[in-house]
Amino acid sequence: MPRGIFITFEGLDGSGKTTQMRRLAAWLTSSGRTVVSLRQPGSTALGDRLRAVLLDSRSESALGPISPLSEMALMFADRAQAIAEIIQPALEAGSIVLCDRYTDSSEAYQGAGRQLGSLRILAMHAAVCNNLQPDLTLLLLPPLEAALARARRRNHRYAASQSQTASQPDSLPESQPTDENRFERESDDFYARIHAAYLEIAAREPHRVLTIANDDSGDNSIDAIELRIRALVAPRLI
Ligand code: ADP
Ligand code: TYD
Repeated sequence: MPRGIFITFEGLDGSGKTTQMRRLAAWLTSSGRTVVSLRQPGSTALGDRLRAVLLDSRSESALGPISPLSEMALMFADRAQAIAEIIQPALEAGSIVLCDRYTDSSEAYQGAGRQLGSLRILAMHAAVCNNLQPDLTLLLLPPLEAALARARRRNHRYAASQSQTASQPDSLPESQPTDENRFERESDDFYARIHAAYLEIAAREPHRVLTIANDDSGDNSIDAIELRIRALVAPRLI
């Protein structure tokens, strides 16, 4: 059985990763391939717990400040579990694995956003993930302002829909849905550092990381980007 293909989606919050990953999964499945989709943090039982802690804006009022190193370590704990439970077995079974965020997110958000530095992230990746690298990374790069506006709109809608059911906003009981707003509250400078880090990663690893720029020139509709992604993925399929 040939090893499967490991494809990751990267980009700022609101850059369209989830939308495009769903569409690529549907296209690959309709062409008869077995696709396993996951997101980070999350997708395992442990990872979903970690996701709730890491992304909920109420975490810090419930648990106290989460230090940048602790945040990094939790992201990697989530990743190690996903590799063991989902990614490695799926690749060994010959599936195409689609993952919404992976170690590039840690390098961009914790390495650059939280200013822990790339070297520390890459060392963690070697130690905790056995250096498992994606075969292909699709980096979606709309202009910074457009991505943030989309993510903030989406999260406000989500938070508003949940606030009708949440009775204790500062606690995190397991039964309560999370608001996933912790990162979206960060400053524009934080996101500018992340944007720059993604560009550096793409320049450093041009064979693995393909950038889908989304600027004012050309058609940047969801449909047009989907077709650009198919054209980039098709040559990598076995
Ligand atoms: P991400 O997973 O990167 O946060 P999503 O796929 O959830 O991004 O998209 C965020 C929002 O932006 C959604 O409302 C989605 O419909 C919208 N969106 C995604 N891609 C585009 C695009 N190319 N043009 C306009 N809106 C888009
Ligand atoms: P998610 O809902 O996947 O992102 P998006 O808003 O793009 O749909 O949320 C994941 C958040 O976690 C996002 O803000 C980026 C952050 N993150 C890190 O900071 N480091 C990491 O290693 C990963 C995987 C995610």
